[in-house]
Amino acid sequence: MIRIGEVPVSDANVVRSIARTVFDNMPPHKPDAEDYAWLLPDGKRIVIGAYENTSLVGFCTVDNLEQFLDLTHVPDSPPNTCYVSALALEPEMRDRHIGTRMLKSAVLEAKKAQWNYISGHFRENASTKAAVTCFRATAGGIIKSERVRDHLGSSEIYHYMLARIR
Ligand SMILES: CC(C)(COP(=O)(O)OP(=O)(O)OC[C@H]1O[C@@H](n2cnc3c(N)ncnc32)[C@H](O)[C@@H]1OP(=O)(O)O)[C@@H](O)C(=O)NCCC(=O)NCCS
Repeated sequence: MIRIGEVPVSDANVVRSIARTVFDNMPPHKPDAEDYAWLLPDGKRIVIGAYENTSLVGFCTVDNLEQFLDLTHVPDSPPNTCYVSALALEPEMRDRHIGTRMLKSAVLEAKKAQWNYISGHFRENASTKAAVTCFRATAGGIIKSERVRDHLGSSEIYHYMLARIR
């Protein structure tokens, strides 16, 4: 049984460990300069997790745009836009809609926190599908969707998406 809920700051090291497992194995396979400090629960950013019993198996982080202004499309965001900075799930837990559930819950938290828009760069396939499902379900739906190449030096295709949430 999977429970989706807020990740406390005390689980920051578990979040970092999942980030290392998942993101270190994705192109461009470079160690993260900040060892993922930017996606950890810090009491301010939104971090939603998936717990199997008491074990954290995945997370979704939503933050303000400040750290992401050098990424394609981000500087053109409308006022009061937040950014999905990470979505990750342990490999053995995938393809059971847990990623979609985490992102849906993160969108609801962003709405409660009074953000007007939510955005993100989503990797093609499961991540993009989860974003389309979640963002379509929100009030205003998707208002921008663009293919992005060379996102963070990756050889994979990403999709930038912007959706209205309030
Ligand atoms: C992104 C991630 C969290 C998604 O979690 P997940 O629980 O496996 O995803 P879901 O089961 O919710 O799947 C979402 C949709 O993608 C589909 N899907 C799942 N795996 C897929 C794959 N490999 N290729 C294409 N579609 C896939 C699902 O069928 C589902 O579609 P549906 O809603 O039409 O049924 C997980 O795949 C992951 O950690 N990937 C590695 C890290 C990553 O890419 N993060 C995103 C960076 S932006």
